Amino acid sequence: MLKGLSRYLIGGALLLAISTVSAVQAAQKRDLIIDTDPGADDVVALLLALASPEELNVMAITTVAGNVRLDKTSRNARLAREWAGREEVPVYAGAPRPLVRTPIYAENVHGQEGLPGVPVHEPAKGLASGNAVDYLIRTLSQAKPHSVTIAMLGPQTNLALALTQAPEITQGIKEVVVMGGAHFNGGNITPVAEFNLYADPHAAQIVLASGVKLTYVPLDVTHKILTSEARLKQIAALGNHAGQLVGDILNEYVKLDMEHYGLPGGPVHDASVIAWLLKPELFSGREINLAIDSREGLGFGQTVADWYGTLKQKPNVFWVENGDAQGFFDLLTARLGRLK
Ligand code: RIB
Ligand code: CA
Repeated sequence: MLKGLSRYLIGGALLLAISTVSAVQAAQKRDLIIDTDPGADDVVALLLALASPEELNVMAITTVAGNVRLDKTSRNARLAREWAGREEVPVYAGAPRPLVRTPIYAENVHGQEGLPGVPVHEPAKGLASGNAVDYLIRTLSQAKPHSVTIAMLGPQTNLALALTQAPEITQGIKEVVVMGGAHFNGGNITPVAEFNLYADPHAAQIVLASGVKLTYVPLDVTHKILTSEARLKQIAALGNHAGQLVGDILNEYVKLDMEHYGLPGGPVHDASVIAWLLKPELFSGREINLAIDSREGLGFGQTVADWYGTLKQKPNVFWVENGDAQGFFDLLTARLGRLK
C-alpha cells in the first residue's frame, strides 16, 4: 500500500518538475520579427535564429532594400528559410528604397546576387502576400502589450514607415535590437558612418524618436567578433549543409573587410544581433544617449554615441561595446549543427 503511494507521489513530483521547466522555457521564448537585407551576414543571422526555436519564435521575416535590391534581398531571405528547413515562417517584402536619400547598395561586398561564395536558386516557397509595412502595423497593433522583439539587420526603413503611418504600434513592441552604427570603431561606408545607418539615417531617426526600448549592436562590437581559420574550420567540420553554406559564405564575405582593415578575420555583423538575443551574457555595454546625423556632408549617417555622458543628455539606447568572440562562434557552430 505504502509502496504504491510513494510511487504515486514520486511520479507526481516528477510531472510537476517537468511541467515547471517547460513552463519556464516557454516563458523565456521570445516572439521575434527579423527585418533584414540579406546579405551574407543576414543569412547567417537568419540560420542562427531559425535553428533556435526553443528561445526564438520567429513570427516573420520582413525584407528591405539595402545590401542589394529588394527582389534579391527577398529571394535570399526565402533561401535562408529553405536552407533552415523553416518554410512555415512567412517572408514579407517591404520598402524598395530609403525614405529620403538616393538608394545605395553594397554589391561590392555581398556580390551581385547579395550572397557571396554560394550558388543561389529560386526557392520553392514564395513571398507572403501583402507588404512588410502593413504586416508590421497589423501585427504590432494587435500584439499583446510589449510582447514582440524586432531584430533590425538592415536599413530601418520598414519600421520607420510603420511608425509614421501608425505610431500606436509601439504598444506591441518589447524592444528593437539594431545592427548598426559605429563610435569607437569608426565607420565602414565612410570614416564615421556604418552602412545600415548611412543607407537610411532618416528612418533610424524616426525609430530612435519613437521611444521604443532600443539596443544597438554597432561596429564597435562586431569588429571584435571576427572569423579565423580555426573558427571557420570549426563550422565546416560540422559536415552538414548549413555548415558548408556558412563556411563558404563567410570565406568569401570577410575578404574585403580583412583587406580594408588589415584584420586577421572578418565580422559577422548581423548574427551578433541574434547571439545577443540568445546569450546576452556574451556581451557588455551601457545605456547612453545616441543622436543620428542626417545632414548632407561628411557626417551623414553618423551615430553620435555619447559613451561618457559628456552632453548630460538622457540615455535612449543600450550600446553594446564588447563581446566574447569565441563564445559567439561556439554558439553559432552548435546551432548550425542542428540544421540539415
Ligand atoms: O555595416 C554592416 C551592415 O550593413 C550589415 O547589416 C550588413 O548586412 C549590411 O546590411
Ligand atoms: Ca544586413
